[in-house]
Parts: sequence; C-alpha cells; structure tokens
Amino acid sequence: MNEIVIAPSILSLDYSNVSAQLEELKVSNAKWLHFDVMDGHFVPNITFGPDILRGFKKACPLFMDVHLMVSDPEKYAPIFIQNGADLVTFHTEALDNDLNRIQNLLDEIHHLGAKGGIVVKPNTPIEPFECVLKSCDLVLIMSVEPGFGGQKFMQDMLQKVTWLKEKREALHLSYRIEIDGGINQDTYPLALDAGCDTLVAGSYVFKNDIAKTIEGMLK
Ligand code: DX5
Ligand code: ZN
Repeated sequence: MNEIVIAPSILSLDYSNVSAQLEELKVSNAKWLHFDVMDGHFVPNITFGPDILRGFKKACPLFMDVHLMVSDPEKYAPIFIQNGADLVTFHTEALDNDLNRIQNLLDEIHHLGAKGGIVVKPNTPIEPFECVLKSCDLVLIMSVEPGFGGQKFMQDMLQKVTWLKEKREALHLSYRIEIDGGINQDTYPLALDAGCDTLVAGSYVFKNDIAKTIEGMLK
C-alpha cells in the first residue's frame, strides 16, 4: 500500500500573497506540490511556464507533480523536466489516445530521469490504457473537467479508481492512484476509500488554514 500523499494545487494560491503561503506549505505535512500547466488550447485557461516552475522549486523545494494540460506534451514534458519537474503527467487525449505515442512519451520521461504517468478527462475511459500501466509511476483520474479550480467533484469517477486498484493488484504493479478536482472535507474520504493514495487539493487547502487542512486529510 502506498503512503497517502497530499498534493496542494498552486492553481488556487492567493497570488497577492505568495511568499506567506509558501512558508505555510513548507511547515505543513505536504510533501508534494501539484503544478497545473495549461496552454489555453487543450483547456480554455492559461497558467504557468517552465520559468515559474523553477522559481517555485527554489522557493519551496517539495516534490514537483507537474500536470500538463497542453496540446503538445511531447514537446513540453522535456522542458518541464529540465526546469524541475519530478513527475510529469500528460493527457492521453492530447496524443489522440494513441498507445504507441503514449508509451514513447512515458519512456522519454523516464529516460530524462523523471517519473511519469497518464491522465484521463472525465469522458475518457481508463480501460484502453491497461497495456501502458506497467510504465506508469502514477495514474491521474480527473474528477472535474480540467481547466479550473473550485468545481464540483464527479463521484462516478471513483469507478475508474476501483478499476485501477484491482488492475494494480492483478498485474503486480505499484503505480500511485491520484485524483484531481473537487477534493474537500466531504469528498476526500470517498477518494481514499475507493483506493486513491494521492490527493490533489486546490481551493480546499488554500481557502482554509493550509497546514491544518492538509493535516486533517492525513488523519
Ligand atoms: C483543474 C486542475 C486542478 C485544480 C483542482 O484542471 O487540474 O489541479 O487545481 O482544484 P480544486 O481542488 O479547487 O478542485
Ligand atoms: Zn491538476
């Protein structure tokens, strides 16, 4: 069983008060930071580039979990790894769900010395990707449509989590199962019960007391 990890999503930081919040994160039990990269094309929002990642890594040296919501992950995964990504997840949809391209990009990420995994949007089934699971360090299930923080948790997505948990056992693998979107005091217990070991939380963490909220989810 993997240790439970909370990955606060810096998408929900108060950008008028960054330093103080990063100081709070540093003394919290968060071991990861979730870094949402959006290109305004794969999703209708624009966020951060590689220079910003480098700055965050310097200011708050946690494990950098980089979620690429971009149309060209084959181009950008290496760039984010060069700039401090410890783990890169990319959307299967951005590679037309093509298993060869997905396998090649996972191999490339590993070759560059980072951990890697796939992400699926709510309308994309997970079963077609069984053959690449052996190359995933983590599989990320979206429990909202990617693009924005603060949306409502889609509980049906937990079926994908259950499937991933069963497959992990049947195939003797050890990938993490991460969930992203709508995690709060009501939904995190459901995600843990279903088999998630890695919880992304944006607004829930940053709109409350950061350290206490993270601590609460680890109890
Ligand atoms: C949405 C992002 C999430 C977002 C989650 O596209 O991938 O990481 O920050 O935000 P909350 O936790 O507020 O739903
Ligand atoms: Zn994310």
